[in-house]
Formats: sequence, structure tokens, C-alpha cells
Amino acid sequence: MDLRRKIESREARVGVVGLGYVGLPLAVEFAQAGFTVTGIDLDQRKVDALNRGESYIQDVSTAEVKALVDAGRLSATTDFSAVNTLDTINIAVPTPLRKTKDPDMSYVVNACQEIADHFHAGMLVILESTTYPGTTDELMLPMFEQPDRKVGEHFFMCFSPERVDPGNPNFQTRNIPKVVGGITAQCTEMGALLYAQALETVVPVSSTRVAEMVKLLENTFRMINIGLANEIAMMCDRMGTNVWEVIDAAATKPFGFMPFYPGPGLGGHCIPIDPFYLSWKSKQAGIEARFIELAGYINGQMPHFVVDKVQNALNEHTKALKGSHVHILGVAYKRDIDDVRESPALDIIHLLLKRGAKVTYTDPFVPKLKADGIEMDAVCICEGLAKADCVVIVTDHKAFDYGRVVDQARLVVDTRNALKGRDSSNIVRL
Ligand SMILES: NC(=O)c1ccc[n+]([C@@H]2O[C@H](COP(=O)([O-])OP(=O)(O)OC[C@H]3O[C@@H](n4cnc5c(N)ncnc54)[C@H](O)[C@@H]3O)[C@@H](O)[C@H]2O)c1
Repeated sequence: MDLRRKIESREARVGVVGLGYVGLPLAVEFAQAGFTVTGIDLDQRKVDALNRGESYIQDVSTAEVKALVDAGRLSATTDFSAVNTLDTINIAVPTPLRKTKDPDMSYVVNACQEIADHFHAGMLVILESTTYPGTTDELMLPMFEQPDRKVGEHFFMCFSPERVDPGNPNFQTRNIPKVVGGITAQCTEMGALLYAQALETVVPVSSTRVAEMVKLLENTFRMINIGLANEIAMMCDRMGTNVWEVIDAAATKPFGFMPFYPGPGLGGHCIPIDPFYLSWKSKQAGIEARFIELAGYINGQMPHFVVDKVQNALNEHTKALKGSHVHILGVAYKRDIDDVRESPALDIIHLLLKRGAKVTYTDPFVPKLKADGIEMDAVCICEGLAKADCVVIVTDHKAFDYGRVVDQARLVVDTRNALKGRDSSNIVRL
């Protein structure tokens, strides 16, 4: 049976390589659509958890995973020989930056090498990891194409950017429109056909390079606008104006304005990283990505700005930062999630420790903080509020009782406008 009919009848054997924040929800959607799905990951703990029917990703429930595993529609392995039996593969492995801010493609290359060893004619392979334009046709395609194995004829290759937003209650993998571009028109058609079985809206584009660039435009747009909001926040601070009120009032304009908000700095696996994939590639094409570099610089200043605010606030209470106790509320990179990758809290903690403060934290989603050379256990919020000289709201988790924070803390520096509408002399806003 050819691939098209296998996909339409849901008899295609679907594979997902990389079972993290992106891969697991995608594997679950394909399995729920009726496919038999095999996840492949190098992390034995994730593979074991999935095979026991347990979810380790906040947005996917254990009940969903268990039902699919029990029905024989979802399983996982660390063994790439499983590719021998698969018809389609979606790749969702990490694409971090090196220390020099160059793309680290080693995860994609390693995964593709393993897949290529077991690849066979008739397969569809789709890269979902965020990357620079040209990755799919320059880097991936040569690993799969052979003189007698032509793309668009004997196998199909696409890029489809992942747009999932962990913790978003309204938009998840299934209802976020899926952009897909193939190396050839036949590849795009096959990729779109696969996604159409499981996801609500598919947006085909003319090439893998367009699809790669779509993701970088989206995330660069966010990063630069957050950079602008942060710069406006620093200006407002200097001029004694409440930036949050300014943005809320500007947002009442029904056209031509979209609100972005300042904060303690960028976090997560996407916004602080992806634009540098674009600037790296555009430099090779002879164009300096100046907006990206500038926004990167301004956003990178925010943890320093926050720590300066803490220091100034303590000074006004005749206390020095050195030797003071600062309690951080929230270390995840955004509200109501457990991910601390690139979290600005890490920079803020480092800076506070460097200036001689004692630091503790509370985060209902992160009981232990082990990242970036920091190893700390969360303490009870009651202890932080009672003992700290200053409390800093870095992540505005809904679970925090902000009324109690204002009532009990000596001093609160609010980097997220979590205390909007509250008025008290111990509040210092960004
Ligand atoms: N997390 C997000 O919100 C998000 C959103 C959109 C796009 N993305 C992009 O999606 C990609 C994946 O991100 P993520 O957040 O899911 O990462 P993740 O770290 O949560 O998951 C990646 C998984 O890949 C596995 N892995 C690494 N190398 C492998 C290999 N050679 N073979 C098999 N498995 C391997 C890891 O063990 C891990 O389980 C990245 O390119 C990221 O930029 C992420």
C-alpha cells in the first residue's frame, strides 16, 4: 500500500523522535487520531515512564497516556531499529545555542544519523525542531538521499515548525495551526496529509525554507517587541511613570497596537535562543541582524535592572544588599509551568549572590532548583515572607496569595505587575 493510503486509513506507523515538551504532546495527538505511534528517545527514564502509562509533561495527562498505552497505540523505545517498521517520523530534539551563540545542531545530526541507518523507501520524515533556514535541504537531505533514493519520489521530507506554548489553556498542539513546507510539492502534500489526520488546521507553504523562516519570524517578533517594552520600562522608571499603566492604556487602541510587557528578562527554550539562529544565518548571507542584537542586549540587561531595583529599595530602608536576605517568588521562566530553562530567575539569583545577599526561593512547580550551577531547595512561602528583607516576584504563578505577600513582606519588588491594583508603601514596581 502506498504511503498516502496508509496515512488516510491511519494504518501508517507513526514515529516521533524526541519525547519532550514538543514530542510527547504530538505523539499523543497522533495516537488519539487512531495511529499506532512509537516514540524514540535516548532518555531511558522518559521511555520507561511512557511505557508505564505515565506522563512527565504538565500539558499531557497521565490518564490520556495510560489509555493510549493500554490500547497498544502508544509505546516508546531507545532503540532506533524501530525505524525499520515506521512509515513516518517527526523529529523534535533540542536545538540549543553554543556558548558563542552559534547553533548547536548536534542533536538533530545525531538523530538523523540514527534514523538514516534504518531508513527505507516510502517514508516521510519531518523536522520540527526550531532551526535556521536551510537546515532541512542543506543539512538533513544529504543524509537521506541516495542515487537510487530520490526525495519527492522514493521518500518525502518536510519542515514543520512547532508552535506549542506550554501551560496555555486555550491553545495546544491540536488547535494551533500547523505550518508545513516540503522539499518538493509532493513532500508538502504528504506532510500536510499526515497532520490533517490529527490536527485542526494545516497551513501548507511552498518550501522547507519558508517554513523554517516562519518560526524564526514569529519568535523574533516577540523577542524584539519584549525588548522594546523592556526599554520603555527603563525609560518610565527614570521618569517616574508607571509603565504598566502606559501599556494598558495604549492597548485600548483598537488597531495598530499590540501590547507586549516588560519583565525580569527572557526565559525558556525559544524566545532567548531562536532569533540567534536567524542572526547566525543572516550573517553568512552578509546581513547583520541589528534588531536582534539590540533586543538581545536590552533583554539581557533586565536581571541587572531588577537587582539594582532590589538594592535601591533596600537602601531606602537603610539596608545594604550585602548581607540582606532576598526571597524569590517563582523561578520557572513563566507563569504556571515547571520549566526553568534560561529562566531569568537564574541570572537574578547569581547576581544577588555575587553582591553578597542571602537568597531563598518558593515555587510550587519547582521544589528543587538544579540549573546553571545553582542547587537549592524551595522553602515554604511563610518562611520567605517572615524572614526576608525583600521579596522579589520573578514569576507570577497564580497559586501565590498576593494579598498575603503584600501584607506580610517587608518589601516587595514586583517584576510582573502581579500586584496590579494593590497600593501599599512596601511595593516597588518594575
Ligand atoms: N518547549 C517549547 O515550548 C517549544 C516550542 C516550540 C518549539 N520548540 C522546539 O522544539 C524542539 C524540542 O524542544 P523541547 O522543548 O521538546 O525539548 P526537550 O528537551 O523537552 O525534549 C527533547 C527530547 O529529545 C531527546 N533527544 C535528544 N537527543 C536525541 C536523539 N539523538 N535521539 C532521540 N531523542 C533525543 C531528549 O532526551 C528529550 O527528551 C527544539 O528545537 C525547540 O526549540 C520547543
